[in-house]
Amino acid sequence: MAADRRSKADTLALRQRLISSSCRLFFPEDPVKIVRAQGQYMYDEQGAEYIDCINNVAHVGHCHPVVVRAAHEQNQVLNTNSRYLHDNIVDYAQRLSETLPEPLCVFYFLNSGSEANDLALRLARHYTGHQDVVVLDHAYHGHLSSLIDISPYKFRNLDGQKEWVHVAPLPDTYRGPYREDHPNPAVAYANEVKRVVSSAQEKGRKIAAFFAESLPSVGGQIIPPAGYFSQVAEHIHKAGGVFVADEIQVGFGRVGKHFWAFQLQGKDFVPDIVTMGKSIGNGHPVACVATTQPVARAFEATGVEYFNTFGGSPVSCAVGLAVLNVLEKEQLQAHATSVGSFLMELLRQQKIKHPIVGDVRGVGLFIGVDLIKDEATRTPATEEAAYLVSRHGREGAKLPDAEAPALS
Ligand SMILES: Cc1ncc(COP(=O)(O)O)c(C=O)c1O
Repeated sequence: MAADRRSKADTLALRQRLISSSCRLFFPEDPVKIVRAQGQYMYDEQGAEYIDCINNVAHVGHCHPVVVRAAHEQNQVLNTNSRYLHDNIVDYAQRLSETLPEPLCVFYFLNSGSEANDLALRLARHYTGHQDVVVLDHAYHGHLSSLIDISPYKFRNLDGQKEWVHVAPLPDTYRGPYREDHPNPAVAYANEVKRVVSSAQEKGRKIAAFFAESLPSVGGQIIPPAGYFSQVAEHIHKAGGVFVADEIQVGFGRVGKHFWAFQLQGKDFVPDIVTMGKSIGNGHPVACVATTQPVARAFEATGVEYFNTFGGSPVSCAVGLAVLNVLEKEQLQAHATSVGSFLMELLRQQKIKHPIVGDVRGVGLFIGVDLIKDEATRTPATEEAAYLVSRHGREGAKLPDAEAPALS
């Protein structure tokens, strides 16, 4: 197969003609044309090599031979749907269950993170008999209509907040109302959720679920203070709702110390529903919802089948199993800890040198650098951040130095 069939300019022109401009490109002024990738490297049509620091899907490395082989071998034998009895789906569910706390023992397989969160919403509503959702500010949980509605990051630019959605502040100890000098930010931020729940209840609303990424990524690489989730779960359970942990970006050992990011919150914390996607299939469309027996039983009691044409196919499950095997064999969870610590150390050295670096925070390979205009106000240095992303994202970025904002 030819690596590059047409010039970059021709590809761009065709794309502009045929693909909706709502589907955006990275570096739109001069997009990168990537023609192959291996491990942590990507290559453009000229053969230039890029280290891929932004991919949250190619979890065990681009085109990992074990994963590619697993898909190929299963494709040669059988690929069908989950209505037929097959070993792969049960092997895979069993392997996933070994990574999770015992109560999370019922699995559904799907094709995308959005499908997983949409099913989580349905499960929560059936189990609780309630409709409403509490979400964290700036969150993104997927592109389906149901999820745009619970994603402040999106709905603020569309038709706004629905009456069944309630937004709690991000537990951000760098820029939020309770910061690193607060005696108990976990309790303070959880009390904000309690306040949001109470104010919804005063209007006669009933809470079905609290949705949060275990580490809010879209909201700015936030590390919630330990103990926050247990406190929130208490308030949500009291209101009759369930706790949904979105692990779509942060699961599968990315945080190094633990396999699941919600485990950073302490041994005693167990969500009622966990959603998985992105890295689960290393690029193959796989997603999963794990939940407890009581939640699953309530959904089953409706008598309505859950059928997903591609979810849980023998090929998808073979791929998922291969990803778990690679994670284990190559000890990638420990690797995330050591590479992440090394990177954080380098970034902290930059913070000492450059006042624009306000905060360096992270765990494992979930790392954020918060650029600020001013130490006292911690005002985000938005233009400078955009400039850095385009300048350091690739050589020859378009913004000429004369137009660049001053970085110090
Ligand atoms: C936290 C989070 N949840 C859900 C999704 C939706 O996943 P998908 O794009 O696979 O539907 C995303 C995608 O970016 C995400 O970042």
